[in-house]
Amino acid sequence: MKNLIDLMASYKLNVLHWHLVDNEGWRIEIKQYPKLIEVGAWREEIRNGKFYDKDTTWTPEGEPYRYGGYYTQKQIKEVIEYAASRQITVIPEIELPGHSGAALAAYPELSCNASPQTVPYSRTHSSLAYSAQWNFNYCAGKEVSFEFLENVLDEVIALFPSEYIHIGGDEVDMSYWEACPHCQKRMADEHLDSEHELQAYFVQRIEKYLSAHGRKMIGWDEILEGGVTSSATVMSWRGEKGGIEAAKKGNNVIMSSNNPLYLNIAQTDSPNDPFAPTWSMNTLERVYAFNPVPDALTAEQKIKIIGTQASIWTEFISSVEHLEFMLLPRLPAFSESAWSGEKKKDFEDFIVRLNSWHYLNWKFSGTRFHPKHFERSVY
Ligand code: ACM
Ligand code: ZN
Repeated sequence: MKNLIDLMASYKLNVLHWHLVDNEGWRIEIKQYPKLIEVGAWREEIRNGKFYDKDTTWTPEGEPYRYGGYYTQKQIKEVIEYAASRQITVIPEIELPGHSGAALAAYPELSCNASPQTVPYSRTHSSLAYSAQWNFNYCAGKEVSFEFLENVLDEVIALFPSEYIHIGGDEVDMSYWEACPHCQKRMADEHLDSEHELQAYFVQRIEKYLSAHGRKMIGWDEILEGGVTSSATVMSWRGEKGGIEAAKKGNNVIMSSNNPLYLNIAQTDSPNDPFAPTWSMNTLERVYAFNPVPDALTAEQKIKIIGTQASIWTEFISSVEHLEFMLLPRLPAFSESAWSGEKKKDFEDFIVRLNSWHYLNWKFSGTRFHPKHFERSVY
């Protein structure tokens, strides 16, 4: 984490959004709920060619092995302080109401059907196809779900001084709630016409809780779907359209379009690159060219774009070296794009500057980078 924070600071990136919770693992110690790390931080992984080895080549084909880990609250404090000393704010993400398979392995009573389950293993395709095997959602009907999340958020708020807390909100599979009598009763009691509105009820209840504790909420763009309060900040990941819609509604927006700002996606089509999803090709040129403030907005709406974010998801990233290889040189391209404004950008000049100093610095410091635009002849 500290190396990553140094790299961010050197490229003027001032917010670290830390995705601490997902189906495949719970990564933050919560003292009131010890099973979150005892159970939720560990999964049985099955070796396959795609889950990029994670140093498990010794595992016999098809045999499960234990994979996981977590940060203690003491370690998290250290990361927050280290980041603060480099002018970086750390914003935690506690995913809800979906992407919560790991928490539900620890506390199955929080899911709709309360079935015992393992922590889901990682996959190359969408979570949604796996709903038959695992629960991913907190039950929106049971009060214990909210009690649990409020208690978790109490500890998160005490740890993180950030003004914002990210609550996820993406990719909720509504089929669990459609089949659940508790959720259906909640919909009837609250006069909600669809499961999307039930999600909005869930998210808005959490937003109220955060707000009562002096914090602002960020959610992925799905939080727009069942109705959103004007105080929520929307993080647009499924392209720009969620961000455009939110800015038009008057919500604050952070642009983090997966195409091209997801840096876990392939950067070239070279067969020498390690495995990476290729549902878009997020080349250096495209990251550099990205304009976080869409032309489709009026001057007044443009003010609602309060930031932009490059994201990197590490399920197929096997090591720190591999992480660096995916980040560089796209991270400085992103930073220049975010800070410069459209008129000042010049890709050719950017490449010249990379070659005049940055590649050399990375080489001497032992930092990996993608070599496509590296001109060896310079050295
Ligand atoms: C996301 O990539 N599901 C936010
Ligand atoms: Zn339910």
